[in-house]
Amino acid sequence: MSKPLQLAILISGNGSNLQAIIDAIELGKLNAQIKVVISNNSAAYGLVRATKHGLNTWVIDHRDFENREQYDTVLQHYLESVAADYIVLAGFMRILGPAIIKAFAHRILNIHPSLLPAYKGLNTHQRALDDGVTQHGVSIHLVTAELDDGPIICQARYPVEAGDRIEDLQTRGYRLEHRMYPQVLGWLSDSKLTIEGGQLFYEQALLEQPISFDP
Ligand code: GRF
Repeated sequence: MSKPLQLAILISGNGSNLQAIIDAIELGKLNAQIKVVISNNSAAYGLVRATKHGLNTWVIDHRDFENREQYDTVLQHYLESVAADYIVLAGFMRILGPAIIKAFAHRILNIHPSLLPAYKGLNTHQRALDDGVTQHGVSIHLVTAELDDGPIICQARYPVEAGDRIEDLQTRGYRLEHRMYPQVLGWLSDSKLTIEGGQLFYEQALLEQPISFDP
């Protein structure tokens, strides 16, 4: 087996996507190693999850810094010391500035609860319901300097029914998210997906038989 994909995972809250990645690794479905879990929030439940599984955790609290640049500089310093293949944003509620994104160009992934480019930013479910959409979904993308804007790696959609509430969309979305992140990381780990210069190259078999996450 090839060397496990080395990951740094950044969280701010519950960490259910982190848990899905941990579970996939422990079940032998994903050849990866989580080198560290970093949170800007010391109360993030994801830190408890990480500790339970014996993972290294660091809290770098943005409130300890005067501005975004200072925070990003320290975060970059820590991330460089980890030498991860990929930095995985999994509910990390901080916008990263251009310098740190450039430092790890094409190596930062994010998961976003909408079908990008629709509904960038926050409150995606409420805005989708307000617009009366019939399809909503999840995107995993490369992080660039524009918010929720980088090349899309993988998307999955689910139907929105009349009378749905935010919680219904959350439930459907999470069901997909928890399959998608381990799957995408698995593609990277198995070199079924390679990223060069911000361009995505998928193994032919993946293109011929795209894996469907539709519920
Ligand atoms: C997810 O909905 C993800 O799409 C968004 O933040 C949420 C994180 O959830 N970026 P969790 O902390 O992984 O449970």
